[in-house]
Amino acid sequence: MPHDGPITSFLKKKVRPFLLKANLGRVVLIPVRLSMALGYYTPQLKRTVTWAVSSREATNFTFEITHENCEYLAHTVSAITGVSYSAAMGYVNELQGDDALKRHVIEETRKSRMRHCADERCAFGRRLGWYAFVRILKPHVVVETGVDKGLGAVTLCAALLRNATEGFPGRYFGTDKDPDAGFLLTQPYRSVGEILYGDSIQSLRSIPEIDIFINDSDHSAEYERREYELVAPKLGSNGLILGDNSHCTDVLARFSAERGRQFIFFREQPKDHWYPGAGIGISFTRNMLAASNGVSAIGAPAAV
Ligand SMILES: C[S@@+](CC[C@H](N)C(=O)[O-])C[C@H]1O[C@@H](n2cnc3c(N)ncnc32)[C@H](O)[C@@H]1O
Repeated sequence: MPHDGPITSFLKKKVRPFLLKANLGRVVLIPVRLSMALGYYTPQLKRTVTWAVSSREATNFTFEITHENCEYLAHTVSAITGVSYSAAMGYVNELQGDDALKRHVIEETRKSRMRHCADERCAFGRRLGWYAFVRILKPHVVVETGVDKGLGAVTLCAALLRNATEGFPGRYFGTDKDPDAGFLLTQPYRSVGEILYGDSIQSLRSIPEIDIFINDSDHSAEYERREYELVAPKLGSNGLILGDNSHCTDVLARFSAERGRQFIFFREQPKDHWYPGAGIGISFTRNMLAASNGVSAIGAPAAV
């Protein structure tokens, strides 16, 4: 820590305490307060300018999350599923080390008609948490409403492919109203997943049972609630809901309280990006915790 010079030291020790107690201080400290607050935002403004020039993305921004944020994510997943922190972190690291998936995302992006609005890189952000839940809970059916390019889709399918090699096959269904959505979902990931095109509410009606449900389509509170109401009877008693709208609405928190489900919000912390981050609203049942003593809630043995 650098030492203050004599002038700064004098200002801090003598002038500041005087100003804090004097009426005059309310005005004199305005620039000090302003400079303190701007200290938080100036680096973000610089990143905003760099990003505006260098990125092609116009929506659904992608970024890495900070190392601390990964640790907090692994602790959150561990607390909810009952597996150890190191097992949860192991799954986070497994995805981050999946070079084949990263290459796939970059190559498919390069080939796509959408390459002008997508960056040629692969950064999972909060989807690391989605991946860890699928790896731990070994679901039979994972549904994601709102696919966009398909980054969530291939992430979830990568988890299902690994589960299958361990003897726990599962299937992914994505829904999107945009006929161009999902260009990343090609082989080998497509072998365990498909996209249902059309309005999500309509598509969800055709899926009889769901183990893990991810809401990321129309981000209005009303639509979000309609999706939860519709999937509730399709979820097993230990079914998990991951909401991608909980940084904007309290719909999943309220829905969980009404249905006797537990709710936790994990806040995402982007690394070197101007976007403040979204998060994962996690709605789960006590059964999931109770059943997690070496056996995951959805029925398959869990790593402990
Ligand atoms: C935020 S993006 C999804 C991002 C994706 N989950 C991911 O991991 O990258 C939202 C998507 O929802 C789709 N969408 C919006 N409203 C919809 C609706 N009513 N039915 C189906 N899809 C919808 C949009 O076309 C868009 O592709």
